[in-house]
Amino acid sequence: MTGVAATDLPDPGSDPRRSMQRRVFVAGAGIMGSGIAAQCAVAGFAVTLEDVNEEFARRGLENARRALESAAKRGAFGAPTVAEALARIDVAIGLRRAEGADLVVEAAPEKLELKQALFRELDAVVGPDTILATNTSSLPVTSIASAVRDPGRVVGVHFFNPVLQMELVEVIPGVRTRPEVVAKATEFARALGKTVVTSKDTPGFVTTRALAVMGNEAACMLYEGIATKEEIDTAYKLGFHHPMGPFELLDLVGLDTTVAILDVLWDGFRDPKYRTCPLLRSMVAAGQLGRKSGVGFYEYPARTPRT
Ligand SMILES: NC(=O)c1ccc[n+]([C@@H]2O[C@H](COP(=O)([O-])OP(=O)(O)OC[C@H]3O[C@@H](n4cnc5c(N)ncnc54)[C@H](O)[C@@H]3O)[C@@H](O)[C@H]2O)c1
Repeated sequence: MTGVAATDLPDPGSDPRRSMQRRVFVAGAGIMGSGIAAQCAVAGFAVTLEDVNEEFARRGLENARRALESAAKRGAFGAPTVAEALARIDVAIGLRRAEGADLVVEAAPEKLELKQALFRELDAVVGPDTILATNTSSLPVTSIASAVRDPGRVVGVHFFNPVLQMELVEVIPGVRTRPEVVAKATEFARALGKTVVTSKDTPGFVTTRALAVMGNEAACMLYEGIATKEEIDTAYKLGFHHPMGPFELLDLVGLDTTVAILDVLWDGFRDPKYRTCPLLRSMVAAGQLGRKSGVGFYEYPARTPRT
């Protein structure tokens, strides 16, 4: 657990030598957006969590609350920190409130056109010094950045799921990202208690490229009848010391997101190793997306937290 309690950190704006951002706007209140909002709030940032409608934004806030409470139960921080963090998060519908943000983290679905449209809209709202970060797990940051007038302010800041528990953040400069934007994004991630690795802007970066292939290969083995999903999950956990089996992980990530990622890898490399297993596509078509839809490879009770 790397969650850093607000009291462990200086006020992000109190030291004039620090250029760290204070007000964070998170666009997209799904699995990742809610976790990113919780993590930023715990570290003392003021956060606006945004989605396309009130139901989704409120659900995101509820998932942030559950993630914070679970982290407190695990001993990451005390109950007062949960209350303080929640008091720092407000919700919004639409991007207008990004106007006063020092940093925007986009966590909308993994579709290039959708992200480009969102960044185009953000470009018209935010001030000249706002850093625009994308939490994309596979799309070229350079392509997302091409939607704004100043691509030098756009950077990939890739968090991992569940955000409060995972130590890593990948920082991905696009071709035109300014070095000071990369430095500020790195400083921001470190202020959240994360360890940063920097990757070149190629499809899937360092982590997703490997992870997607592993999950896809497991789905292919199941599709071919090599073993049951339980046996495959057990084999990965006990044979490789992975904390979760591939099907548990696919359900956590979301099968729609996984298929979108494999499509990005295929588009980027045209290598057959990124050919999506038909089982994954048919499960997505059936709405079996994993935890977030209540059923994927496994079934989840209605109130299972998304983060
Ligand atoms: N799920 C993971 O494990 C994981 C891990 C790392 C990175 N990511 C990346 O994070 C991003 C979000 O993934 P997720 O799993 O949270 O998806 P999700 O489907 O859980 O959430 C996406 C949210 O974005 C909202 N949204 C859609 N259009 C929007 C718009 N125009 N403006 C604002 N919000 C909008 C949706 O209503 C939804 O609530 C993707 O780029 C994904 O690749 C996901």
